[in-house]
Amino acid sequence: MYNKKRVMIPGPTPVIEPIRYQMGREVQAFGDPAFVRDYKELIDGLKELYACNGQCFPLAGTGTLAMEMAISNNTKIGDNVLIVSHGYFGDRFIEICSRKRLHTDVLSSEWGQIVPVEKIRAQLSEKHYAAVTISHVDTSTGVRAPVEEIGKLVAEFPETIYILDGVAATGGEYADMEAMNIDVMFTASQKAFGVCPGMFVLWANQKSLQRRKDLGLIPEYYIDYEKWLPIMQEPSKYFATPAINLVWAMKASMEILQSEGLKARYERHERNARAVQKAFESLGFTVLAEADHRAVTLSNLVYPEGVPDLPFRNAMLDLGVNVAGGLGPYAGKMVRVGHMGNIDENDLTVLLSAFETALRRIGYEVEYGKAVGIYLKEMETSAK
Ligand SMILES: Cc1ncc(COP(=O)(O)O)c(C=O)c1O
Repeated sequence: MYNKKRVMIPGPTPVIEPIRYQMGREVQAFGDPAFVRDYKELIDGLKELYACNGQCFPLAGTGTLAMEMAISNNTKIGDNVLIVSHGYFGDRFIEICSRKRLHTDVLSSEWGQIVPVEKIRAQLSEKHYAAVTISHVDTSTGVRAPVEEIGKLVAEFPETIYILDGVAATGGEYADMEAMNIDVMFTASQKAFGVCPGMFVLWANQKSLQRRKDLGLIPEYYIDYEKWLPIMQEPSKYFATPAINLVWAMKASMEILQSEGLKARYERHERNARAVQKAFESLGFTVLAEADHRAVTLSNLVYPEGVPDLPFRNAMLDLGVNVAGGLGPYAGKMVRVGHMGNIDENDLTVLLSAFETALRRIGYEVEYGKAVGIYLKEMETSAK
């Protein structure tokens, strides 16, 4: 019998007690001075944490709404947008942009690989692009983009806004908007911030805020920067009701990030990711992403020959561990696991032991303790 269902998918991720506590608190009025103070601390704290010289918007909605907000406030009908795609979520910008009657050019990689930065340079040199979009980590492939290198490149094109989708990255992968020349970045609460789904955070630098001003009136209402700017600067004002308990939960999460430190948090993610990826490989799984471009927040694992997807994932569920299936061309061929946010070594040890048991239960011979042993040894070595 398993008393606990462990959510080990690439988001939502487990919500630890200090954060969960905030979700269950009695709601307060959004005008209550105590809440106004909390919201202000969240907005300013997140802005500072990621070196944003413009404005940070923590709002109710999911990552997809943040994608729309990024596009809507930085482009107008007829503009060109360059979409660099490392998978399913990179591609999501195509439909968002085409519905907004933007012209898109798409540079896609083979799943598991990146689009070479030189290819992006060549395309940006072809014509004027209002914006370029890329996922920091594409959740469908586990590929991490060379965000800093792309930032250096986009700096050569000052009329282009660099939009970074950090939904499966921010809070796990390292980012610094100023140092990396990122103009717009966004994430969602349920990933590396380890909060329940329902809130996104979008950071826009001065260049992006100026772009929005230059656009004049835009058709979008709820996600218009201009509607929210007065509230973000003075949260006692009203535009639309803030997600009170999510604000508190995100603030608790931000405080954990602040005390851990972004670099240390990234290094923790990296140690865990490399150790757990080695352990998965010992069981015969192949990490889809090429070694140089592998995310630290999640792993996308192609099954060993003869391991069937649904029986395996159902066996995992019977063991109380929820893992995700593959997307697009890898549906049925891949299992995806999250190891971001506030997941710890104990969670990963349980995940690996469940992998071993589930494989045995569906008739695939593995030695008990093999992957767990590799993981623990790697963690011990990297701690030295
Ligand atoms: C990289 C990436 N971008 C965007 C999204 C969309 O976010 P949401 O499901 O919160 O709307 C996801 C969701 O998993 C994602 O992984």
